[in-house]
Amino acid sequence: MSLSPSLSISLFLSLAVGQQYSSLGTQPILCGSIPGLVPKQLRFCRNYVEIMPSVAEGVKIGIQECQHQFRGRRWNCTTINNSLAIFGPVLDKGERRDGFEVSKATRESAFVHAIASAGVAFAVTRSCAEGSATICGCDARHKGPPGEGWKWGGCSEDVEFGSMVSREFADARENRPDARSAMNRQNNEAGRTSLNDNMFLKCKCHGLSGSCEVKTCWWSQPDFRVIGDYMKDKYDSASEMVVEKHQEFRGWVETLRPKYNYFKPPTDTDLVYYETSPNFCDPNPETGSFGTRDRSCNLTSHGIDGCDLLCCGRGHNTRTEQRKEKCNCIFHWCCYVSCQECTRVYDVHTCK
Ligand SMILES: *[C@@H]1O[C@H](CO)[C@@H](O)[C@H](O)[C@H]1NC(C)=O
Ligand SMILES: *[C@@H]1O[C@H](CO)[C@@H](O)[C@H](O)[C@H]1NC(C)=O
Ligand SMILES: *[C@@H]1O[C@H](CO)[C@@H](O)[C@H](O)[C@H]1NC(C)=O
Repeated sequence: MSLSPSLSISLFLSLAVGQQYSSLGTQPILCGSIPGLVPKQLRFCRNYVEIMPSVAEGVKIGIQECQHQFRGRRWNCTTINNSLAIFGPVLDKGERRDGFEVSKATRESAFVHAIASAGVAFAVTRSCAEGSATICGCDARHKGPPGEGWKWGGCSEDVEFGSMVSREFADARENRPDARSAMNRQNNEAGRTSLNDNMFLKCKCHGLSGSCEVKTCWWSQPDFRVIGDYMKDKYDSASEMVVEKHQEFRGWVETLRPKYNYFKPPTDTDLVYYETSPNFCDPNPETGSFGTRDRSCNLTSHGIDGCDLLCCGRGHNTRTEQRKEKCNCIFHWCCYVSCQECTRVYDVHTCK
């Protein structure tokens, strides 16, 4: 079992590294002691051991963003016990491939892959720009002629390096000639391409009291929230594919083709999937659905977070909850704020 229709094998590894790292604190990472590495990943880990903490951090950023984007929805991107340990190779049940669980090839799975590989590229790129590794740094290659009223300065973030790391690492297991590998590769790349497409020129003014006599600019990654919002749109417009089998010299190869040829085919930044999602109303270990029982819902919303839709028509329970809050706050000259503590009563609605 794993995170809902979720992360498959390609990413568990970076999480394993995260775990390893947090438990070891500042001790060096021993690549050989991380369970389940394929040889390519092991080599990668040894060559790039300095940036392994950023790889793990990147997956974490991706999952947190996923949980933000899907909060209040039936599928909310939550792992079984919200522990990254979930991605480890030991916990899985059900269908297996290479000894690891394969979750369904749904839209949700596509999103998780894209956001996690974008997260890895993002975190590695950021840490390189902050100078925390010797093998990478700022990007000096993408400086065109300076613009009107500004010159190049600061440290341009090297998103190509971060993306390379993400590609090497997250895609290392996606080389099988089957449909699922093809899907994961497309979605992983879509995440990284989105990051690349959202780079912007960040500028700073210099001069007497910010007069902006001199302005310096550099390439910067956007806030990761921008990537999350962007990928969420991609999730909504994801392309449904069908699997095709071809006989090639090396054997059977599966490829993906758009299911509906009156839609335009997916581009590099589009998400693809080929299995329909469950409705996530009821728990089902096979599909990774937790069901929505006991989830809190919004009584006045007509959206997916509203009690009608979130509870799948089963109805809801209501209880009152008392919460202590600061109130009657006064600003005193100068300079502190004093408050009283009030108890407020809230209605909390949860799905039956
Ligand atoms: C939850 O995570 C912890 C590690 O944080 C692990 O020890 C435990 O076995 C996990 N429980 C389940 C049910 O997966
Ligand atoms: C997400 O769903 C799970 C399972 O239904 C639930 O336990 C958890 O509290 C939810 N998280 C949030 C933030 O609503
Ligand atoms: C519930 O939904 C209403 C209407 O969409 C919204 O205004 C309100 O902020 C929501 N409440 C919470 C706690 O999210």
